[in-house]
Amino acid sequence: MKIFIDTANVNDIKEAEEMGVICGVTTNPSLIAKEGRDFKEVVTEITNIVDGPISAEVISLESKGMIEEARELVTIHKNIVIKIPMTIEGLKAVKILTAEGIKTNVTLIFSATQALLAARAGATYVSPFIGRLDDIDTVGMDLVEEIAEIFSIHNINTEIIAASIRSPLHASQAALAGADIATIPYKVLIQMTKHPLTDIGIERFLNDWKNVPK
Ligand code: E4P
Repeated sequence: MKIFIDTANVNDIKEAEEMGVICGVTTNPSLIAKEGRDFKEVVTEITNIVDGPISAEVISLESKGMIEEARELVTIHKNIVIKIPMTIEGLKAVKILTAEGIKTNVTLIFSATQALLAARAGATYVSPFIGRLDDIDTVGMDLVEEIAEIFSIHNINTEIIAASIRSPLHASQAALAGADIATIPYKVLIQMTKHPLTDIGIERFLNDWKNVPK
């Protein structure tokens, strides 16, 4: 499973990039709004930090508007992937953008049939939202598993991005469930690096080192 970072904060993206663990970035309108900066400016900066797929989301609800936004966004950089909501209009946009060679990430996926339709429309990625399903008392990870099985049975190449990841446990479960990618918030990425026995181990090694004759 590959790891993307789910943020529009360029400092966090730089830090994760330096760690060598991420190969892509996902943003959404809420994450962009949190930064309080111009959308295109932020996305351009991100493309200069990470050399991999960078998802930027359209806000139009009609396919025509989505397509126009997408065509403009891809002029920013070759790595831009257009994030499109899972709606009928979204599917229409995905079909046309795919025919134009523009990569898409169909977002707000909450059922396996939505994922199948998005894939059939030509989506490069589908993003099932784990945490938001957990929030409504439904096991989000079951959805990733179901989509992975369907895609495998039917030889579908669309990649599954496990999204709305809230914990390290979500990340490991997504890997086991067959997600191709997990898009992970910076905070969770840092939590994933930690283990108390690692800290205790370092402390013990450094203490013992003091007894080595110099
Ligand atoms: C996915 O691409 C979305 O940006 C994101 O994972 C949503 O996560 P949230 O449910 O924590 O807002």
